[in-house]
Amino acid sequence: MKRNIGSKLALYPCPVAVIGAMAEDGKPTWTLVAHMGIMGHDHVMVSLAKPHHINRWVKEAKVLSVNVVDEGILAKADWCGMASGAKVDKSEAFSWTAGDAGAPVIDDARLVMECEVEDVYDTDGFDNFITTIANTYADEAILNDKGKPDYDVFKPVLFEMPSYTYLRTGETIAPCLSFAKAAR
Ligand SMILES: Cc1cc2nc3c(=O)[nH]c(=O)nc-3n(C[C@H](O)[C@H](O)[C@H](O)COP(=O)(O)O)c2cc1C
Repeated sequence: MKRNIGSKLALYPCPVAVIGAMAEDGKPTWTLVAHMGIMGHDHVMVSLAKPHHINRWVKEAKVLSVNVVDEGILAKADWCGMASGAKVDKSEAFSWTAGDAGAPVIDDARLVMECEVEDVYDTDGFDNFITTIANTYADEAILNDKGKPDYDVFKPVLFEMPSYTYLRTGETIAPCLSFAKAAR
């Protein structure tokens, strides 16, 4: 029997990413985010609490980077989820290169989307940035022979809110629709 546990978010675990944006004096700022959403095949939503330092810079630059976190950058990413750019300079947390659309791209992040802000959807306490994907940068080493990210090689770190924990990505179960095809 199921128990109604109230109005609770239950879409965990989900990937975490370091959001990058250019801030003052040509320096970047970085913020760790888990609340992101896929919209269609070309839009990504990034939900940022209004008091965060980075929001102002995303609104000004209208472009951000979504640096998908794996264990190689987790320690630094975690720090960017505690420290606020309003109090400390986070610009040197990562070495970075400017993407073609002008967002800072973390050199050690192996999969990064550079996204242009199309709209900001306001909810209570949050700026929800609706973005379109301008460019995606992938380390050659994580691409398969079809040029697509191989998630047996690149293992995004997952996050879950109820116990506030990072999880390792699991194993492949089966190709999608293989069950459906077997049942035909
Ligand atoms: C695992 C983790 C996930 C987080 N996810 C989000 C998120 O989805 N949205 C958000 O607004 N803040 C999120 N945060 C909090 C911000 O990363 C944190 O408050 C940060 O210090 C804000 O930095 P800023 O003020 O420099 O922008 C998360 C923090 C952690 C540790």
